[in-house]
Amino acid sequence: MSNRVPIIEGLISHQKREAVSWHVPGHKSSDLFPKDILQLEWDQTELPGLDDLHHPEGIIAESIGLLEELYGAPHSHFLVNGSTVGNWGMLAAVANRGDRIYVQRNSHKSVFNAMEWLGLEPVFLQPELGTDLAIGRHVSRETLTEAMERFPGGVAVFLTSPTYYGEAAKIEEIVEVTNEQGIPLLVDEAHGAHFNANFGQRSAFELGATAVVQSAHKTLPALTMAAWMHDRFTEGQTRRLKHALQSFQSSSPSYLLLASLDYARSYLASLTESDWTEIRRSHERFHEELRQIEGLEIFIYHDWTRFTLRYKAASGAALLEALSRNGIDAEFALHDHVVCLLPLAYLDDETFIQYMGRVRLACDSLKENQANVCIEPPIKGKMKVSELEYPFDSMMDAEGTWVLLEDSVGCVTLETLIPYPPGIPLLFKGERILAEHVEHIRYYLNVHAHIQGGERLVEDMICVLKEGQL
Ligand SMILES: Cc1ncc(COP(=O)(O)O)c(C=O)c1O
Repeated sequence: MSNRVPIIEGLISHQKREAVSWHVPGHKSSDLFPKDILQLEWDQTELPGLDDLHHPEGIIAESIGLLEELYGAPHSHFLVNGSTVGNWGMLAAVANRGDRIYVQRNSHKSVFNAMEWLGLEPVFLQPELGTDLAIGRHVSRETLTEAMERFPGGVAVFLTSPTYYGEAAKIEEIVEVTNEQGIPLLVDEAHGAHFNANFGQRSAFELGATAVVQSAHKTLPALTMAAWMHDRFTEGQTRRLKHALQSFQSSSPSYLLLASLDYARSYLASLTESDWTEIRRSHERFHEELRQIEGLEIFIYHDWTRFTLRYKAASGAALLEALSRNGIDAEFALHDHVVCLLPLAYLDDETFIQYMGRVRLACDSLKENQANVCIEPPIKGKMKVSELEYPFDSMMDAEGTWVLLEDSVGCVTLETLIPYPPGIPLLFKGERILAEHVEHIRYYLNVHAHIQGGERLVEDMICVLKEGQL
């Protein structure tokens, strides 16, 4: 028997690299936590005086009250299983099996997993496409209206805002539509826990969404998996939400996660208007300096703590690797770009010089050889609104057969394929395969992307529904 501890060994060697964290979690390798906070002895259970997350009446209730005050929310909830469980909870609160949901097509896999297990029927809303970067942006009001006309009777709209790239949706426009229809707007705001008036971009909740989920751990000093949500649900929906969160979350929620949420909220609340101004200025100064590097482009949307870099003709993977070799770990790479998340804090001169030096070295080290050049991604999203060929529920026990990718166009897939990162499904179980899907799968295979769900994709095969069953 070995007494090796591979995970601990891996973390120690990662720590020894002393790389700069330009990725989640938002505490940036603990830099944003004060030294004396989060002691291991705080890993406790529901002892007298320590309250109970699933029926909060004491210290947890008090902390939630402060969160509600900060976000102006009638109800907030702490989540110990990330925005993932919040997305499940929001859907369970408003929909019954067989209900139709209008859902942004480039949402996170947690949304679609929840829909599958809850037996909900998605109407997919294709976002607009970027022109500067080949990425999904937001669902337009026109697309939503078209979906409601072609597929009436949906019980909720589900959007993701901001995107991974920090671009926020036009929430006020969408709220007008959902209010007219009298249905809730649910928003996965996993990447926007720090949005507020002082930041310069308000939260979707402030802008009128019915419920919003935020991964505090992504952009604030909170431990991974620590998240929260806010809602203005009716009494009945609130009852359903509480039941869902109690069912889907651990019955032993970690006090370390809860304490980190308490701290993340107080960190955000402690920032004054002038702190925000100073922090933002320091970030903007950094963006300016990056723009001076020849061949480097920087894209910034509503979230100024995150930016996307593109360097000459290099692929995102090559740029990510060059940054990593030079001591910067960024969030993720796709096509021709890399997404970077900076700390929600003032960048002092020392940090500034360290960051700039490392980026310059990374760019200089990127030789323009063929291996580094980006392969252009195909254009996707020709269909603005679409549905599954067969509902998730009917596919649960369906029998499949393996076919070559080239022969799969027109078949119904039994596999959901998710390039990871960023974790946005490319093809859903129950969807009819189009030539455009195959073109995309081939592209991701060519660039050696990691694809979750394609059991035999390396053999160029996909599992499809056996004809005549359903
Ligand atoms: C848009 C979006 N929603 C939800 C999630 C899931 O969040 P969590 O990791 O907090 O469960 C992610 C995770 O990357 C995400 O990017």
